[in-house]
Amino acid sequence: MAHTIMFGIQKGGVGKTMTSGVTAFLLKEEGFRVLAVDMDSQGNLSQFLSGVEDLAEFEGETVLEAIKKGDAKPYIKMIDDQLHLLPADDYLATIPQFLFREYKGNPSLALKSCLESVQGYYDYIVIDTPPALSEQTINALGVANDVVIMFETSKFCYSAVPRFIETIEAAKERINPDLRIAGILRTLADSRRSDSTMMVNLIAEDYPDLVFDTVIHRRATTGRLPIYGLAESPESKQAFSYHAKFLKELKSRVSQ
Ligand SMILES: Nc1ncnc2c1ncn2[C@@H]1O[C@H](COP(=O)(O)OP(=O)(O)OP(=O)(O)O)[C@@H](O)[C@H]1O
Ligand SMILES: [Mg+2]
Repeated sequence: MAHTIMFGIQKGGVGKTMTSGVTAFLLKEEGFRVLAVDMDSQGNLSQFLSGVEDLAEFEGETVLEAIKKGDAKPYIKMIDDQLHLLPADDYLATIPQFLFREYKGNPSLALKSCLESVQGYYDYIVIDTPPALSEQTINALGVANDVVIMFETSKFCYSAVPRFIETIEAAKERINPDLRIAGILRTLADSRRSDSTMMVNLIAEDYPDLVFDTVIHRRATTGRLPIYGLAESPESKQAFSYHAKFLKELKSRVSQ
């Protein structure tokens, strides 16, 4: 059975897509079979991993259709032999209409149900989520084994963390008893800014057992990855270095 890891927080622009994309890519580079699931109608993970600019290319063949059909298999795109993608486009934003008007099962478990047919094939399923506590995020919480809470080192993100943890606890109680918090990942840190360093330390004081030791710093080579893609390049080793350290910690936590 695949181990399913989701990246989330109801705050935008904090590195959810960057981290889920790079994590999926690095797991694949280690030889694992990986399915990346894009649960954000912005489709950024789909663009990032496939290199496709225009999401119209995926129209009618996305995670929305997979959920409607109850089977992900026909909609999975092969990025290469070992990295596969269940893409998203703008229409994913319409999913509540389907879930609450037509879907026969538990609306929070529709993603889980459509992934059942492929769980046995992959080592890891990595899910990117939108910046909201929407049905897309709840469905990711319904299927994940582990959640990585993304913490951009800013005040607004700081106030989002306890509310996200409450949502995770509610999901654990109601729809996914085995759900675990893998940890809180500090991202986009800037050591030249005292406010960023203050937030790096503050969240560690609040959640000493949850924060990952690795802090993902803001770095130009990392910021350029969505432009040049994830394939090996002279600067990619540096671009991935924080994420590679994070992945080592993540793997040791989720295997416990
Ligand atoms: N470590 C980093 N260093 C520099 N730039 C980064 C880093 N991580 C992410 N970025 C850039 O920051 C921006 C936001 O990142 P990303 O799109 O991953 O955030 P997000 O949380 O997925 O946003 P949204 O909530 O809109 O989905 C992007 O332009 C990305 O390229
Ligand atoms: Mg994103």
